[in-house]
Amino acid sequence: MSFLKFLQSKKKKNEPCVDFAHLPQHVAIIMDGNGRWAKKRGMPRRAGHAAGAENFRTIATYCKEIGLEYLTVYAFSTENWKRPQEEVSAIMGLLKKYLLEAVSSMERDKVKMKFFGDLSPLDPELRGLCERTEEISKRYDGVQVNICLNYGGRDEILRGAKNFADACLNKETSPGFLDEETFGEYLFSKGVPDPDLIIRPSGEVRLSNFLLWQSAYAEFYFTDVLWPDFSKEELLRALADYQSRSRRFGGAE
Ligand code: FPP
Repeated sequence: MSFLKFLQSKKKKNEPCVDFAHLPQHVAIIMDGNGRWAKKRGMPRRAGHAAGAENFRTIATYCKEIGLEYLTVYAFSTENWKRPQEEVSAIMGLLKKYLLEAVSSMERDKVKMKFFGDLSPLDPELRGLCERTEEISKRYDGVQVNICLNYGGRDEILRGAKNFADACLNKETSPGFLDEETFGEYLFSKGVPDPDLIIRPSGEVRLSNFLLWQSAYAEFYFTDVLWPDFSKEELLRALADYQSRSRRFGGAE
């Protein structure tokens, strides 16, 4: 039995109806609501982030199982440094823990990993782990997980503009060559197709500086469920909703 048939056969009653043969190529998620999840339970915010990191593992594994090609998650924004030091350290600690595990399981999972964001202000151990996982990833060409870390959409566009201007000054290119495709080469997401679907749990309905350039024609899915509670079934609901839409990219039906 093929894996797709197997998934269909395991489908529970009332489970959202997803066509696994026509999944979006790229899903991006704003993992929001960790703090509120913890508050509801009388726990410190770091416990919410720990639950969020655990859920990221579950959802990323499931995305791989169902055959999603690209998953991008917002783990830490350029603005998140404003949070209390204790919370920032907790998130960085969770990322380190995850990457240490990833390094030891990459050979088995063969998941390609990439980081979008400026890694230079990170502590050297975390930065080293990011670089190592990216380096190992070069051997793989399957499912790709992109982690946005110290990432901001505006920052990414500014960096792209500066890098393009530098390339012009160095006579490697000239302004006349600049089009949307060329500019994409100067972004962190170079080589990655634009997201088809952007999911934001937790009831907030905004983009928060996430993938500003790349989201031009993305479909959005918002839900009140907090990220640590965003289950596989919630993901299926988002995918089914996505599949019910008509994407016209500015054209007519
Ligand atoms: C937003 O929720 C969440 C973050 C800013 C951090 C996300 C980080 C993780 C899930 C952990 C590490 C990630 C990986 C990939 C291992 P919030 O704190 O703003 O929640 P709130 O709006 O309820 O306060």
